[in-house]
Amino acid sequence: MTAKVIDGKAIAAALRADVATQVAAFRSATGRAPGLAVVLVGEDSASAVYVRAKGKATLEAGMASFEHKLVSNTPEADLLALVDQLNADPAVDGILVQLPLPPQIDATKVITRIDPDKDVDGFHPVNAGRLAIGLDGFVPCTPLGCLKLLRAELGDLSGKSAVVIGRSNIVGKPMALLLLGDSCTVTIAHSRTTDLPAVVRQADIVVAAVGRANMVKGEWLKPGATVIDVGINRTEAGLVGDVDFASASEVAGAITPVPGGVGPMTIACLIRNTFVSAARREGFRYEKQL
Ligand code: GUN
Repeated sequence: MTAKVIDGKAIAAALRADVATQVAAFRSATGRAPGLAVVLVGEDSASAVYVRAKGKATLEAGMASFEHKLVSNTPEADLLALVDQLNADPAVDGILVQLPLPPQIDATKVITRIDPDKDVDGFHPVNAGRLAIGLDGFVPCTPLGCLKLLRAELGDLSGKSAVVIGRSNIVGKPMALLLLGDSCTVTIAHSRTTDLPAVVRQADIVVAAVGRANMVKGEWLKPGATVIDVGINRTEAGLVGDVDFASASEVAGAITPVPGGVGPMTIACLIRNTFVSAARREGFRYEKQL
């Protein structure tokens, strides 16, 4: 049996089109465009690629993009002052400070300085807390994108057994909370998990977010499982995920490719979060299923 390949590009394009429709209605109603400010410190080439992609998607959705590029030796105080300025700017609905930051800057201090109601990355402790107790806030874009892929593939997730491999603050932990919110029975596995293959084998849903090329093997999977691969690993064979696609696609029911699976959803969810931020700030009613 060969698994269905989940088309993240198509699902992301549909979400972006839905957001663009609602952005147009927002602009008519309020006379302004939702705005996203992206801050890039230094010359990390991967970060520069992401920031360009985010700016392009923002404009394509009919929103305003404000890019701030700072030199790599920017003092922490200067970045904090920029965050203060963006917090106070009514044209800015979303603020994203691209990570990683150079060593002289404390990322936690910067993230905590962002107004939680403009924190479209969902990294602020207030938003982490809101997610944990089920209040409206902002959810990190990558796990939100994974949840949307799972709902698109499976519909109602309630009662399903889900294993999240990885416990980072950006992906693993929020992913587990989102799956719990959709009434899955959730296990978080990590580098110290005993007998990971056995843990994975009982799961209807597997989300792999560990950053190790081809780690999850097809033999570990329950036949018919839905597999979401968050990994982006550069190898001599090119970009590969955390899941060994060749063997996994022989056992899984459905699986995301790398690239073209989770990646496009992350940016689509950033656009979505920015629109939702603008809508909340203006009291504009929007389609809640967005
Ligand atoms: N660096 C890599 N991914 C991300 C992301 O989603 N948000 C931010 N701010 N930085 C990142």
